[in-house]
Amino acid sequence: MTVTAEPETQVDAAPIAAAPAADAILKVSNIESYYGPIMAIRGVSLEVPRGSIVTVLGANGAGKTTILKTISGVLDPLKGTVEFDGKPIQRLDPDRIVRLGLGHVPEGREVFPFLTVRDNLMMGAYLRTDTAGIEADLERIYGYFPRLKERISQPAGHLSGGEQQMLAISRALMNRPKLLLLDEPSLGLSPLLVKEIFAIIARVNAEEGVSMLLVEQNARMALETAHHGYVLEVGRIVMADTCARLRESKDIQEFYLGARDHGERGERRWKRKKTWR
Ligand SMILES: Nc1ncnc2c1ncn2[C@@H]1O[C@H](COP(=O)(O)OP(=O)(O)O)[C@@H](O)[C@H]1O
Ligand SMILES: [Mg+2]
Repeated sequence: MTVTAEPETQVDAAPIAAAPAADAILKVSNIESYYGPIMAIRGVSLEVPRGSIVTVLGANGAGKTTILKTISGVLDPLKGTVEFDGKPIQRLDPDRIVRLGLGHVPEGREVFPFLTVRDNLMMGAYLRTDTAGIEADLERIYGYFPRLKERISQPAGHLSGGEQQMLAISRALMNRPKLLLLDEPSLGLSPLLVKEIFAIIARVNAEEGVSMLLVEQNARMALETAHHGYVLEVGRIVMADTCARLRESKDIQEFYLGARDHGERGERRWKRKKTWR
């Protein structure tokens, strides 16, 4: 995974504007995030227009999770700003950020394995006191994910990977977020389940107006589901456009959608890749 270093001046100079700037629920400007001395995010800018689904595509290690952690306050950026619903939130505690209506479904789901499905969902509603509203939302969520209703009293640890992903998304929805960050919901799931989960993500967006920032290695599903997309390579955004146009792009087809012709997505294709800059 070698990419030649670019002179700093060239990086994201005009933050390749995929999304119209009009009414952005999330505006990330030039963030840099580190793990100790390692710079994982190198000046990333992106926007999520209110009510839309935006995806960030990138291979393993590109920095997708780091971007989401920086937005949700798990990690503080060394530079740059994160504006959510018109307010700067960089360097606020994750807890404060959740309260503002920003939900984060982490990579690997992280449900509470020893709690029941219902108790996991109630954990998502811990900031709320409107009992009737909570019950109504539980019913709404069972409408999207009937499998969860069937397993309501089971410990979450007994659920399949797909069901745990459904639970993790549902738990975040229980706080009625304005924006949901989704970290690779397709990871480790069968193609059929991935399809099912992405269909529900699209429904929740369309029916409830929840904005979404979806990071994925599964470019095919992400580009079918999202409205706008960014491509992340080694901590930098290298491409941005509507998903319709990205699907037509030769580079995207070759390096992100051509997995079947070249074995599994990942290493082999990745070594052949070029950069777009
Ligand atoms: N806790 C950590 N400590 C040190 N380096 C990390 C840590 N987490 C991630 N990294 C590094 O940061 C880069 C981006 O990682 P990550 O955001 O997890 O990528 P992605 O989610 O796209 O797979 C990678 O090079 C990874 O090795
Ligand atoms: Mg990740």
